[in-house]
Amino acid sequence: MSDSKIIVALDYPTADAALSLAQQLDPQRCKLKVGKELFTRSGPAVVESLVKQGFDIFLDLKYHDIPNTVAKACAAAADLGVWMMNVHTLGGSAMMEAARDAIGNHADRPFLIGVTLLTSMDQHTFNQIGLQGSIPETVVRLANLAKQSGLDGVVCSAQEAPILRAQHGADFQLVTPGIRPADSEQGDQHRTMTPQQAIAAGSSYLVIGRPITGAAIPMVALEQIEQALN
Ligand code: C5P
Repeated sequence: MSDSKIIVALDYPTADAALSLAQQLDPQRCKLKVGKELFTRSGPAVVESLVKQGFDIFLDLKYHDIPNTVAKACAAAADLGVWMMNVHTLGGSAMMEAARDAIGNHADRPFLIGVTLLTSMDQHTFNQIGLQGSIPETVVRLANLAKQSGLDGVVCSAQEAPILRAQHGADFQLVTPGIRPADSEQGDQHRTMTPQQAIAAGSSYLVIGRPITGAAIPMVALEQIEQALN
């Protein structure tokens, strides 16, 4: 297992494209994230192949269903040998506790983390679905619920990391996307932070996609980020 804090988002439509990027990366120097697009097209085989190559895999499928269904999906993900998986905190504590129970208690069980509110959710959408109050307060409340339900951490924006780190201590995993090295394009991300800023804010792991996957030589882009962090 690598001790890297960098999780490269493998946002590709085919297993071939994902595996070809993975071949250019070193499993000791980064972890990989498999999300809904790649998983829906290529299934568990691509995850198993990446695990066999020695990569720590974050399976980002954001489970949200009745407790029994989520628990069984989490057990299936654990059987694939992933390092981290996630559920939606909006599924509530019974769902999160069932997920936590399903992945067991052994020392090398996967991390189970919660999505609080999607960063794409704005105040209009928040009110439209009947939620009350402010988005930041709700993120803090859902992160508390995740912790109480036995989850290992949450996905959040690095902007929210300082308050969550202060409330939940060093062992609570804060996984932050929206990371952009100073010289890279923002793309569709808005409230971005550099890798150094995100670590200083309290992030445990940085999810980085296009700044690495879109680079001419991905391993060089990864090395530059490592150097900035050191
Ligand atoms: O290419 P980029 O660095 O923007 O990729 C970020 C990755 O993190 C994508 O896989 C995206 O789906 C994911 N993500 C995000 N914002 C969230 C949750 C996940 O950008 N709130």
